[in-house]
Amino acid sequence: MSVFLDHASTTALRSCAKNALSDALEILGNPSSVHSQGRATRELLEQSRDEVAKACGANRSEIIFNSGGTEGNNHAIKGIFWDRVARDPECKVIISSRTEHHAVIDPVQWLGENQNAEVVFVEHFANGMIDMDSFKSLVSKHGHRVALISLMWVNNETGVISDIPAITKIAAKFDIPVHSDAVAAFGHVLIDFRTSGLTAMTLSGHKVGAPIGVGALVIARSAKPISLVHGGGQERSLRSGTMNYPLAASFAAAAKEAIAELDHEVTRLGALKDQLEAAVMEAVPSAIITAQGANRAAYNAHFVFPGTQSDAMLFLLDQKGVCVSAGSACQAGVLGPSHVLLGMGFSHTEASACVRVTLGKTSTFQDVQRFLTALEQVHPVALEATPA
Ligand SMILES: Cc1ncc(COP(=O)(O)O)c(C=O)c1O
Repeated sequence: MSVFLDHASTTALRSCAKNALSDALEILGNPSSVHSQGRATRELLEQSRDEVAKACGANRSEIIFNSGGTEGNNHAIKGIFWDRVARDPECKVIISSRTEHHAVIDPVQWLGENQNAEVVFVEHFANGMIDMDSFKSLVSKHGHRVALISLMWVNNETGVISDIPAITKIAAKFDIPVHSDAVAAFGHVLIDFRTSGLTAMTLSGHKVGAPIGVGALVIARSAKPISLVHGGGQERSLRSGTMNYPLAASFAAAAKEAIAELDHEVTRLGALKDQLEAAVMEAVPSAIITAQGANRAAYNAHFVFPGTQSDAMLFLLDQKGVCVSAGSACQAGVLGPSHVLLGMGFSHTEASACVRVTLGKTSTFQDVQRFLTALEQVHPVALEATPA
């Protein structure tokens, strides 16, 4: 049986989420129908909205259920940008970061290439933290021309946590809406939409133990993003289409449990991660912890193993029964250098030699030991296999 240490890519389905899904699938009714069965599924949907809202510190009317992180990011970024530009054509600057997930970088770049957006990126320190002085200067320089800021809460590769309230405070001087991809944060660090100062935030269910294909865009009532889809007007007219109450119920159950366990898991996984990092550095002293010294999420360990290549390391570790990733998944299954590490200033060679180990609810001390044993066997082979 393989050891799964790739929980940032997707994590195990929680029993509560599975049960909520199968129970909801037994109930028949379109939540928009006015008859009693429709009202019953509507009630389930609204209870689910309430639970998700509670889990992220939002109001229930701020939760728009959708298919997950990619959709939420696209919706927030394009929708808010289009609305802002429609009001003022000169308001077309987007501030984001080179270390964002592709589900943010790609829509941002698409707007730059196709919709006349001016895209500017924040600077980072070598440990991945945002250089807040340079961010402040960028905001002051572009001021009221900034349509939108999109900066993630937790980086899915390095685990670096950004100070979102500090970011929104700076943006507030010019009334700039801020969106945050909180996919890697939700269920792992405490997030509170109400006090964050954010206009919009993206959540994905499968990162907290719900099935793949459900998530939410959390969006302030005051925001009027232009919708990506048009139709029946469901979900504040932001997500037309028959509302998926079974997946919403499943997401709500997973989110509730994840938040209830958060404190305990942060302590447990943080201790496991510390053990893992110390043991890796002892076994391979040349290894680099990519976000050393940064404020990091407890479940995430990310290394560069100089002289190796990520794909060789992942393949060899997999052969030993250990599933990890480099962090940068690619459709074709061919790993390029990590754009996150490049954005932090690592060289192309270093950014092609990373391994990400991410822990989750099912992770144990034995899993970490299996990884370490495999690493000790695999690392010399990967070094040997890498052309000088
Ligand atoms: C930070 C981050 N944003 C967005 C996504 C995309 O989420 P989804 O798979 O729900 O579309 C992911 C998934 O890997 C992610 O880690």
